[in-house]
Amino acid sequence: MLILYSFLLLVIPGCISPTLSLDPPTTTTNRRKVDFFTFPEGKSTILPDPSNFFSPDLLSSPLPTNSFFTNLVIENGDQHEYIHPYFIKSSNSSLSLSYPSIFSNTSFTTHVFTPDINISVLNGPKPNRNHTVSSFSDLGVTLDLHPSLRFFLVRGSPFLTFQVLQNVSLSFSTVHDIRALVRNGNKTKYKIDLSNGQTWVLYSSTPIELTKKASTVTSDDFCGVIRIALLPNADEELEPVLDRFSSCYPVSGHASFRGSNSVRYRWATEGLGDLLMLANPLHLRLLDDDDSVKVVDDFKYKSIDGDLVGVVGSSWVLKTDPIPVTWYSIKGVDKEAYPEIIDALVEDVKGLDSSNMSTNSSYFYGKLVARAARLALIAEEVDHVDVIPKVIQFLKDTIEAWLDGTFAGNRFLYDKSWSGLITLQGSKHVTGDFGFGIYNDHHFHIGYYLYGIAVLAKIDPVWGRKYRPQAYSLMLDFMTLGKGPDMKYTRLRCFDLWKLHSWAAGLTEFENGRNQESTSEAVNAYYSAALMGMAYGDPHLVKVGSLLTAMEIHSTQTWWHVKEDNTLYDEDFVEANRVVGILWQSKRDSVLWFAPADQKEFRLGIQLLPILPISEILFSDKEYAKQLVEWTLPSLKRKGVGEGWKGFVYALEGVYDKEDALEKIRKLTGHDDGNSLSNMLWWIFSR
Ligand SMILES: *[C@@H]1O[C@H](CO)[C@@H](O)[C@H](O)[C@H]1NC(C)=O
Ligand SMILES: *[C@@H]1O[C@H](CO)[C@@H](O)[C@H](O)[C@H]1NC(C)=O
Ligand SMILES: *[C@@H]1O[C@H](CO)[C@@H](O)[C@H](O)[C@H]1NC(C)=O
Ligand SMILES: *[C@@H]1O[C@H](CO)[C@@H](O)[C@H](O)[C@H]1NC(C)=O
Ligand SMILES: *[C@@H]1O[C@H](CO)[C@@H](O)[C@H](O)[C@H]1NC(C)=O
Ligand SMILES: *[C@@H]1O[C@H](CO)[C@@H](O)[C@H](O)[C@H]1NC(C)=O
Ligand SMILES: *[C@@H]1O[C@H](CO)[C@@H](O)[C@H](O)[C@H]1NC(C)=O
Ligand SMILES: *[C@@H]1O[C@H](CO)[C@@H](O)[C@H](O)[C@H]1NC(C)=O
Repeated sequence: MLILYSFLLLVIPGCISPTLSLDPPTTTTNRRKVDFFTFPEGKSTILPDPSNFFSPDLLSSPLPTNSFFTNLVIENGDQHEYIHPYFIKSSNSSLSLSYPSIFSNTSFTTHVFTPDINISVLNGPKPNRNHTVSSFSDLGVTLDLHPSLRFFLVRGSPFLTFQVLQNVSLSFSTVHDIRALVRNGNKTKYKIDLSNGQTWVLYSSTPIELTKKASTVTSDDFCGVIRIALLPNADEELEPVLDRFSSCYPVSGHASFRGSNSVRYRWATEGLGDLLMLANPLHLRLLDDDDSVKVVDDFKYKSIDGDLVGVVGSSWVLKTDPIPVTWYSIKGVDKEAYPEIIDALVEDVKGLDSSNMSTNSSYFYGKLVARAARLALIAEEVDHVDVIPKVIQFLKDTIEAWLDGTFAGNRFLYDKSWSGLITLQGSKHVTGDFGFGIYNDHHFHIGYYLYGIAVLAKIDPVWGRKYRPQAYSLMLDFMTLGKGPDMKYTRLRCFDLWKLHSWAAGLTEFENGRNQESTSEAVNAYYSAALMGMAYGDPHLVKVGSLLTAMEIHSTQTWWHVKEDNTLYDEDFVEANRVVGILWQSKRDSVLWFAPADQKEFRLGIQLLPILPISEILFSDKEYAKQLVEWTLPSLKRKGVGEGWKGFVYALEGVYDKEDALEKIRKLTGHDDGNSLSNMLWWIFSR
């Protein structure tokens, strides 16, 4: 246990830094260095070159691969990105700002990009390089348009803020007509009225002379800081709010974890006065009501994530109730059902054969590993330990092959360019292992292995100790907290500290930014890491895993679960959808990557699998579970619906109607590859 503490201390220097970290361990004696395990280096033929858009001094540290600014650093870097409440789109020499409208129908709801204001330089040295990311933080990114402009793109800032580094003249153009340009007395504030009804307010750190010509506003030579904000609803009563907070601007923002139930944001600022930022609906729900922040209720921007509301204060604390991370069902299994579960267990365990795995895919293989690990825990829970040795042998054979790299079909490799794991099959084709090689879906795949490792290390601690470096290396691929050149992996590869959920998408350019489909597999990843912490006696890993699990669940319930009385999304969309299929930064889709919208059982299933003790927390709202099942049931009348997918619908029905669900489950003739009859019965009899 002590060795483990020191491992975390040594591998995650961020732990000790005040802004980035977990609380430092309380036990600091007997530190012993545990070597970090690095998977063999792999050469990818498909990964983009990070040096195209990251400044050279950032290249020696791991780089984010599933970030809110990923569009800015791949392909041509010119796809727009949603930095709440605005879209920004950047070329080498100009940046467009958009306050996006929302389009909704029954198929999807999405923000629409319109270049409301396009900022560029009129004179001075010509742009000579790609735009570059000169720094990034949890809550912001700094983008340089060489050589004159530096944009501080901090999420949730009502102002777009940029620094003009050289004495140049600026151009603000628009696709709309400019109805009026009005300036205040000393030329540090201008109002720009556009023909689309928007009013933008521009503030400058020193006087600037702006002139309007057709649909362009130009400036005299200027050097200093400019801030531009949309006046919400063009409501003049809100103008004093913008005025009052126009001087203090954020340049970056950090999030740190405190214990297992709170996250703290701190922004680094410049300028005078208090900081005004915007909170999304989940922030508002979790925001700790202390004296250091003040919510400005009437000050709101529209967003696909719900209204973004003004909050004054440069440090926020977001608190959640702790959630139970347990090996077994939370309330226990009905004793009378033991014989039926044991019969299923014996059959399921009989079918385990590691010499005959039906897949080489890192995803499907992981699911088979975790499915088997469930059997061991169910056996413990229903007190039928006879089957456990065979499960353990299966887990060892299958997991070791990946940890040792001896599996002929595939393996984990370390990519030095972005600093992270890839797989052999994923290193050659963007579609290999569902894009694992371009950093897609890492938490989904690895989560399943962590579950297997956690169970194995719990039951066989000797095995656990032997493989701990490999196990931690897998976990750290997506759960490293530290930053900088000493790290092997980027900080929290998938988890978005502002949205408080994960992204799966990896390094692919998308019009709507990053996306995530399966929330339940994301929950599984952090939950499994917490279990691994329990197996290894590592309270810090338990805390971090539990906190991330809790946040992922809150976000899922906020943005994916669409209850009938939902007011966050437009009516059309709410009426037709009880759950989001793919959630993007700036879009909500009813389709899945692998199924159309009307095949609803896939949508329900992919947001429920794998079925675990934590699923009970994810679907703790019985009324919602009922709405979702009733919405799905008609889809099961189609011909050829898979037994596995039906199973998930029935499992969710079990949340509110155990008897009916049980009857249906007993009649199933098959189960999803990551599921089993044992697991289904365990679930039903623990409701
Ligand atoms: C700029 O980006 C492009 C991709 O759009 C890339 O091909 C090129 O090498 C980059 N230039 C530099 C100097 O990094
Ligand atoms: C801004 O406007 C200029 C001139 O019309 C254009 O070349 C550039 O592509 C625009 N920038 C963006 C990011 O749309
Ligand atoms: C929703 O709008 C999109 C874009 O106009 C269209 O392609 C799609 O068919 C619409 N869906 C429905 C159900 O009308
Ligand atoms: C940006 O500039 C670089 C270097 O001059 C060039 O390679 C690249 O094509 C330009 N990108 C765009 C989108 O114009
Ligand atoms: C910028 O240029 C203007 C006129 O071109 C000049 O008056 C001013 O002193 C310059 N400022 C700086 C900081 O160079
Ligand atoms: C400009 O005037 C406003 C009030 O109208 C004042 O608050 C601000 O300090 C002045 N700025 C400068 C640079 O003089
Ligand atoms: C291997 O697996 C396949 C498909 O699951 C099964 O048909 C076959 O009997 C298995 N072979 C052995 C030797 O277990
Ligand atoms: C897995 O990969 C091995 C080695 O490349 C190959 O022989 C085998 O057929 C593959 N198995 C499956 C199920 O694709």
